[in-house]
Amino acid sequence: MTCMGLIAIMSAMPEENAGLLRDLSVTESFEAGKRTYHRGLLYGQEVVLVCSRWGKVAAAATVAHLLAKYPIEELIFTGVAGAVAPSLKVGDVVIGSELLQHDLDPRPLFSRYEIPLLGSTHLKADLECTKALEHAVVEFLSHLRTSPEWARSRAEFALDEARVRSGLIVSGDRFFQSLEEISRLRNELPDALCVEMEGAAVAQVCTEHGIRFSVVRTISDAGDDNAHQDFSRFIQEVASAYSTGIVRKLLEGRR
Ligand code: ADE
Repeated sequence: MTCMGLIAIMSAMPEENAGLLRDLSVTESFEAGKRTYHRGLLYGQEVVLVCSRWGKVAAAATVAHLLAKYPIEELIFTGVAGAVAPSLKVGDVVIGSELLQHDLDPRPLFSRYEIPLLGSTHLKADLECTKALEHAVVEFLSHLRTSPEWARSRAEFALDEARVRSGLIVSGDRFFQSLEEISRLRNELPDALCVEMEGAAVAQVCTEHGIRFSVVRTISDAGDDNAHQDFSRFIQEVASAYSTGIVRKLLEGRR
């Protein structure tokens, strides 16, 4: 698929998009609301790159600002997530075919997880974008498995078997850090693959504005009692290289 228009690339934390920022030929930087919006050329494609900061409010505010200021045609959110499906391991990649807010509960006026007045619980990502992302992730993971530059991280994080899955990503304003909490979430939403803190908010604003979006998340932890140590180590050492590698394969594939 080709997209000749402007693409927004977002992540929640500077650690997640540091590599992308290094590779971006910046033509203009704009500051608003404690965020810096960098516009420029990335792997042959015109983009705006921005960190939303953590959580649903921060993510929604950033998307609203992006859409008001720039003629964005498509938005890609990249970052890390905690595993909900027990089969997912650190280093696996999840592409969100659908997104849901696990902490939204407007009962009894609407059903559980339903976004009032939108009439949906699950929001669908753009099919073409998610297919293109899946292709890019498969290529990136095969590079990761064979490339000498990844040897140390492969050994340290046991990345040899890293795989890609597509499915439900759930979001909410909470960092999961105990086996009890993550097990409860798994029981409540048995289809959820992973949990993070922004994707479904981005999905809601993009859906309301008719903007194509996709969300790609690398598993950094299992949302259990070790989550905060595993998360910090992954964020410091490999999260940026994953985001850079995946977005690079995606954008280069569109030239
Ligand atoms: N993002 C990465 N790990 C997470 C976790 N354990 N809970 C919520 N969001 C996360």
